Amino acid sequence: MVIHLIQDELGAISDETCEWIAEKLELQPINIKELITFYPMLRETPWGKKHVRVCRTLPCALRGSYATCQTLEKKLGVKEGHVRDDGEYSLEFMECLADCGEGPVVMVGEETYENVDEKQARRLADLLLKGKLESSSDFVSYENALVSKPVSETKKSQSRLKK
Ligand code: FES
Repeated sequence: MVIHLIQDELGAISDETCEWIAEKLELQPINIKELITFYPMLRETPWGKKHVRVCRTLPCALRGSYATCQTLEKKLGVKEGHVRDDGEYSLEFMECLADCGEGPVVMVGEETYENVDEKQARRLADLLLKGKLESSSDFVSYENALVSKPVSETKKSQSRLKK
């Protein structure tokens, strides 16, 4: 939990931070380093300013998430698992994003977008590159749909993604 909080604040756990945590917890730095290098959600270097995650688990994969990820790689100019040279974007193709019924699922930062097939991925990337994704009415994230309408009134995928 401490490591997660620190990573949220700093973006990653550097060697220096690793030593600091170890000292506070009265452990050896290697004990912290082992955790950081073992768990994929922990990082030694930060992601880009806009971090994009694509689900690759079976339900999303069957609905086209591999093509979604490849499209985002091309459009955003960043290879999966990497940060773009200018530090603006990073892309991660990862296990379940906990929205399995509406795949392919893409997260941009903490916002979740559903039914992002290859075609929708092109549109999403265009809006993201223009800095207009969050203000777009074409894509409404799961989180924003909940805020703007109670769940009982939300027609799930139709209200979140206009086709
Ligand atoms: S399988 Fe994609 S969100 Fe769970």
